[in-house]
Amino acid sequence: MAKPKQANQKMEDIISLCKRRGFVFQGSEIYGGLAGTWDYGPYGVALKNNIKNLWWKRFVDGREDMYGVDAAILMNKGVWEASGHVSGFSDPLVECSKCKRRFRVDQLDDPKVCPECEGRLGEARQFNMMFQTHIGAMQDESSISYLRPETAGGIFVNFKNIIDSFHPRLPFGIAQIGKAFRNEIAPRDFIFRVREMEQMEIEYFVKPAEWERFFQEFQKQIHEWTKEIGLEKSHVHELEIADGDRAHYSKRTIDFEFDFPFGRKELYGLAYRTDFDLKAHSESSKTDLSYYDEETKERFIPHVVEPSFGVERTFLAVLSDAYTEDELGGEKRVYLKLSPNVAPVKIAVFPLLKNKPELVAKAREVYAVLKKEFGAVEFDDNGNIGKRYRRQDEIGTPYCVTIDFDTIEKNAGVTVRNRDTGKQERVALEEISEKFKGIV
Ligand code: GAP
Repeated sequence: MAKPKQANQKMEDIISLCKRRGFVFQGSEIYGGLAGTWDYGPYGVALKNNIKNLWWKRFVDGREDMYGVDAAILMNKGVWEASGHVSGFSDPLVECSKCKRRFRVDQLDDPKVCPECEGRLGEARQFNMMFQTHIGAMQDESSISYLRPETAGGIFVNFKNIIDSFHPRLPFGIAQIGKAFRNEIAPRDFIFRVREMEQMEIEYFVKPAEWERFFQEFQKQIHEWTKEIGLEKSHVHELEIADGDRAHYSKRTIDFEFDFPFGRKELYGLAYRTDFDLKAHSESSKTDLSYYDEETKERFIPHVVEPSFGVERTFLAVLSDAYTEDELGGEKRVYLKLSPNVAPVKIAVFPLLKNKPELVAKAREVYAVLKKEFGAVEFDDNGNIGKRYRRQDEIGTPYCVTIDFDTIEKNAGVTVRNRDTGKQERVALEEISEKFKGIV
């Protein structure tokens, strides 16, 4: 079904801003691109890092029961055989008999007719989405490996290492942020569905009888997280996934959906993976992955609650809620109403005029102080002040500091301009650092 024009327009505007201002570029662009891959420019990296750092702070550093890992992307193929991905991680695919294009059946309005050329579509067949490669010089069955399709695999194989090194008591979690790869049949909607992505995942190990309590706890935590990164509460929805529609390892799944410009789509997942993975890896690797409970003197395989967050989808949701067009001082403007904690640049510092050395010198002084304190601070003396404000608005910089003649001649401090209201206030030079502490 065609998307409403307005929605398409908003996506086009976001994509165009991302390219124009150095957030996101098409992967391998000068070679014509590579579908489903994207490169992140300076502001994109900064926004992504802010998202990942905030997540790590909240879900790992902010808790006593969480252990971080950074596992290898290439894993022994036994991992993915045991987890069920080799046999079952597939999407139904159909091919057009006329133009030979391939489509995911579940994304077609009519599974018999090609949406591109109206040719006849063939029978659906299962298409495994893992990227396969070979390790070493031999290219045979024995050298097959896969790029991990979810970071979770790297967590499960390290369960025993964490137990042996840290002796944690249940419940505890292992968290990881890293790349995952899926050979999506139809990458689409900018960075929403990509072939190379990043996930932020937790496998939270619990006593079997306690899974529901922790499932509900993470349900709440996910909502709190979306609030922290500035997503509009009314744009986040829960969808209980019915029996038969869940991943093979899950006994209960809630998708957290978001109102993207192209419709309501999955943002995150929360799954109850039972003891499926540890049991499967235990049997397949012939390694004991059970846990001994000192209190009850029982040995058992823990159950798992898994909150899973895509970095790209977070990035897109944040941009989509932040993208704003309004009028300020009689002029149209585009700005990103980013929460200061994710904004790539926190503060920009300007001399009012570029050709006045005394203004530039003072602005450089203020910039050096703020840069040391807050890191993501920019200096800009290019073009007139109005243009500089617009440039910073467009990348979502919450505050602009301007050094003018009153700063120097009357010791009247600097002006601090608020991105959202455009209002300015004067702040004494000696109070400038204090002003931003705790708000950027
Ligand atoms: N470990 C569980 C897991 O991987 P999933 O629902 O397949 O579950 C989890 O993926 C999250 O990863 C999704 O909610 C989404 O945020 C992100 N994700 C999955 N496939 C993606 C893709 N092709 N492009 C971008 N993000 C993706």
